[in-house]
Amino acid sequence: MTTTALFEQLEAEARAGLPAHVAGYVAATAGAGQCHAEGLRDWAAARLVPRVLQGVSRTDEQLAATTVLGTPLRTPVLLAPMAQQVAAHPRGEAEAARAVAAAGSLLGVSTNTAVPFDAVAQAGAPWWYQVYVLRDRSLTGLLVDRAAAAGASALVLTVDTTALTQVDPAAASIEPTAWPPGPGRERLTALTGADLADRDAGAATPALDVDLATIGWLAERTGLPVVVKGVLHPDDARACAQAGAAGVVVSTHGGRRLGESVTSAAALPGVVAAVRSVDPAVEVYADSGVRSGAAVAWALAQGARAVFVGRPAWWGLAARGADGVAAVLDALTAELVTTLRQCGDVRA
Ligand SMILES: Cc1cc2nc3c(=O)[nH]c(=O)nc-3n(C[C@H](O)[C@H](O)[C@H](O)COP(=O)(O)O)c2cc1C
Repeated sequence: MTTTALFEQLEAEARAGLPAHVAGYVAATAGAGQCHAEGLRDWAAARLVPRVLQGVSRTDEQLAATTVLGTPLRTPVLLAPMAQQVAAHPRGEAEAARAVAAAGSLLGVSTNTAVPFDAVAQAGAPWWYQVYVLRDRSLTGLLVDRAAAAGASALVLTVDTTALTQVDPAAASIEPTAWPPGPGRERLTALTGADLADRDAGAATPALDVDLATIGWLAERTGLPVVVKGVLHPDDARACAQAGAAGVVVSTHGGRRLGESVTSAAALPGVVAAVRSVDPAVEVYADSGVRSGAAVAWALAQGARAVFVGRPAWWGLAARGADGVAAVLDALTAELVTTLRQCGDVRA
């Protein structure tokens, strides 16, 4: 079965068991959906120039193996941070992490998780904590401290979520209180252990003053490398590298933030060149519409260290729990290996 057929099947299975507002939230895109549709198209249209006479005697495991920020992995296909996975499966990210551990991959854990960090960490997979800086920075401080203490090996600072769009539960079409186990206060109280009673109502809403200095603040506070997610312009990528970022994720947030945005496949080469001009050790990752092993290979050929996969894994988790997430990671990795065996080592 191709990855395309598998992903369609998992989505159909998941939709059959999910409330319409949850499925709508996962599938949602910004604007008229142009960026998402064009992202899928651009990754599918990516073409490789095969290399020959290089010897392809390496094992499948050797072909797929990589490191990200020094962590050895068995695949460059990583699980994107996605909110509210308890709406897909009762154990949420803890269930997804089991599949990630089995695949030898790595997962991002969203600020909007409802699962305690220790439960995610117990699965044994390497994980990065995704940060939305909150207006009350002391809450963000508590969250990153706890994530670091629970074993997160990097922070992913998402910087592309600066306006409310139709994919946000707080926007009109989705009733936020319908989300288990309740957004905002109760969830944050559980995750931070802090008494939030005396904080003002906007404390847990996104901060609007996030800038390059935030990279250093997070790195100094936790001692963890900081990866900036949602970078598309080469000048921003260069500035992140200069400000001390350990990596950047070229991402349109799955086409969920700006309908008229350039796609991540189109932006990737320029970002790689910009980052390398500052420091070749700074890693570049990509996501938003990656759906085939050939697309993964193309990203690697452009200089990406790894890719993240989002919605197919969310649907997989909802449809079949850890087995569904594993199916997605394994199918992409298997296709990648076949592609690399046919193409030689295309990694740039
Ligand atoms: C349901 C859903 C929730 C998401 N939540 C977050 C989030 O909390 N933080 C974040 O940085 N990105 C979030 N994203 C974006 C993903 O990390 C990733 O960039 C995107 O899903 C990749 O595109 P793809 O779904 O087409 O593979 C979310 C995406 C989806 C589909």
